[in-house]
Amino acid sequence: MIGRLWMTGLKHGRGGAYEAFAREISLPMFRSQEGFLGCVMSRNEEIGLVITLWEDEHAVKALDASPSYNEAVAKILAADVLSAEQATRVGNVHLLDLDHIPLSDRYRPAGPDIPDPDGLKIEQRVAESYDVVARDYAANIVGVERKPLDLAFLDQFVRLLEGRGPVLDIGCGPGDVTRHLHDRGVDVSGIDLSPAMIAEARLAHPGITFAVGDLANLNATAGSLAGIVAFYSLFHLPPQEVQSVLNDFRRNLQRGGLLLIALHAGEDIIELNNWFGKPVSLRGYFFRPTQLTDMLQRAGFVVESRLSRPPYPDIEFPSERIYLLARSPR
Ligand SMILES: C[S@@+](CC[C@H](N)C(=O)[O-])C[C@H]1O[C@@H](n2cnc3c(N)ncnc32)[C@H](O)[C@@H]1O
Repeated sequence: MIGRLWMTGLKHGRGGAYEAFAREISLPMFRSQEGFLGCVMSRNEEIGLVITLWEDEHAVKALDASPSYNEAVAKILAADVLSAEQATRVGNVHLLDLDHIPLSDRYRPAGPDIPDPDGLKIEQRVAESYDVVARDYAANIVGVERKPLDLAFLDQFVRLLEGRGPVLDIGCGPGDVTRHLHDRGVDVSGIDLSPAMIAEARLAHPGITFAVGDLANLNATAGSLAGIVAFYSLFHLPPQEVQSVLNDFRRNLQRGGLLLIALHAGEDIIELNNWFGKPVSLRGYFFRPTQLTDMLQRAGFVVESRLSRPPYPDIEFPSERIYLLARSPR
């Protein structure tokens, strides 16, 4: 088996466009080639790597000469996403041990701007799914009032705010976290992608402002927010999209502003097709605490506290939980 490594520099802010190209153009093109066995693609904000595996050297040579490959190369060069020179290396594969790579690391599904197989963008699927279950969710999911460690973390957040506002509860759902903060005197409002969730929140907490909104497009004025709370809402974003959202959160926060995040800890990706007996199409991503801490630091936050806790039995999905409190620079 032959491995072919292609490496390129990426222009600042063009990682998402590169990834879409890799998934939509490069991958189908590789799959159409004789002797293609598999592919690993990886990128950060600066560098893209594509490792393809081939039956033999002949297959690699045929790729290099094929019109569809050269067309794809011409297109990506014209797409204004690559920065430094591209480099290619080819060599025999000595060791391939995929069985020891967790499934969640082998495959990361498409980002939000890339349609899923059902033709819907991720945020559409999330909104529609939560719309379907909003009533049941509001009536059945146990809120923070019965979760002492969550309350302790939220109350620490309130103390550290020192009376500053406004605060945005992002992905507020039926709004019980928003209400808890409001009851403690915080100038807080909630946004959620799902109109039905927002209707539930307004019904349950008429004195608080709730609006439909997407955490990936906050529309807040830069530097305007004293705090952001995101309890289990970043969970539906593919990990590769989270960094730019955290960067945005930091831009929207005042100097010394606070961010409080809650997520499921781990490496799993879960699929939910039925919830409360109703059809939904939700994918949830678990995060490693160190992965989140790294992303927060890259976004310019200082992580001030971190809490991991086991699930509360009987009232929660059985997964380890992680809470992170981070501050934007003063
Ligand atoms: C698991 S619920 C959590 C609700 C609430 N924060 C809580 O802790 O009970 C996730 C919520 O995030 C919302 N959500 C998911 N993606 C979002 C996005 N991109 N922008 C805003 N809200 C989003 C969903 O509509 C849903 O109401």
